[in-house]
Amino acid sequence: TGITGNRIDSHTVLYGVIGDPIRHSKSPIMMNRAFRETGINGAYMAFHITPDKLGEFVAGIRAMGIRGVNVTIPHKLDIMNYMDEIDAGARAIGAVNTIVNDNGRLIGYNTDGIGYVRSLKEEAEPDLAGKRIVVIGAGGASRGIVYALAGERPSSITIANRSVERAEELAQAFQSLADIRAIANEDLKTACQEADIVINTTSVGMHPHTDASPIDATWLKQGAVASDLIYNPLRTKFLLDAELHGCRAHGGLGMFIYQGAYAFEYWTGQSAPAAAMRETVLQSLA
Ligand code: ATR
Repeated sequence: TGITGNRIDSHTVLYGVIGDPIRHSKSPIMMNRAFRETGINGAYMAFHITPDKLGEFVAGIRAMGIRGVNVTIPHKLDIMNYMDEIDAGARAIGAVNTIVNDNGRLIGYNTDGIGYVRSLKEEAEPDLAGKRIVVIGAGGASRGIVYALAGERPSSITIANRSVERAEELAQAFQSLADIRAIANEDLKTACQEADIVINTTSVGMHPHTDASPIDATWLKQGAVASDLIYNPLRTKFLLDAELHGCRAHGGLGMFIYQGAYAFEYWTGQSAPAAAMRETVLQSLA
């Protein structure tokens, strides 16, 4: 069966993920499971690419006919310089996490935000229209999510960030798409009390055994959705506190699964076996 369990032969199509570091990535086990599950003859590898080797790697995509590549830290911005075409969403977000190689023509996409929204709708809140949404954090992850949420006709998106200028910049960037505003941290409590969905996009709560939380979860309405992009731990302190308070908790694992599911769908034209992908990643986290 080999390491991946996929049958590798002279027709196998290569895929992969690049990053620096990369050895922690769960993408290879997730994507190889997806190929096995669908019977697609593909193999997916993790490539440790340092920034000085990015151009050579892109030449390698074309030379070797690598069909699809996921891009992670620190390459999501710089990789844009090497694309032949960049999808409108990725251009608006300003980052590419997925490359499709169409016979040597490289097209860049961003599936992080849409992956998050698909996860939120399937796992926590099917209809985002008319919802009041609070987003904590204004970094790269927040940008993709705010862009994707803006397309769901929310009543409002309110962004708070430690450095308020970054929140203002983000609200400004997408102000034509929805009612998006930046607030100061001292107004966060009131915003959370009025919100239907509160999303943590910061790294607060990520460190093992931490008891840090971006906000006091008791600020939320009972029945509101508390959502965290962090998936390791699967349940952050923010989510555990929110659940105890009577909120619905939504963890970050689904975002990871669905950003990969969209990439798989762009590459293969087939719908991704999301349940199997989730099962494999969950097993590896246990
Ligand atoms: P990512 O791609 O994960 O979003 P990033 O672009 O570095 O990473 O953004 C990190 C986000 O987490 C930012 O919103 C950051 O706030 P600042 O813009 O003020 O730096 C937030 N963040 C990180 N550590 C934090 C902390 N200890 N307290 C509050 N916010 C924090």
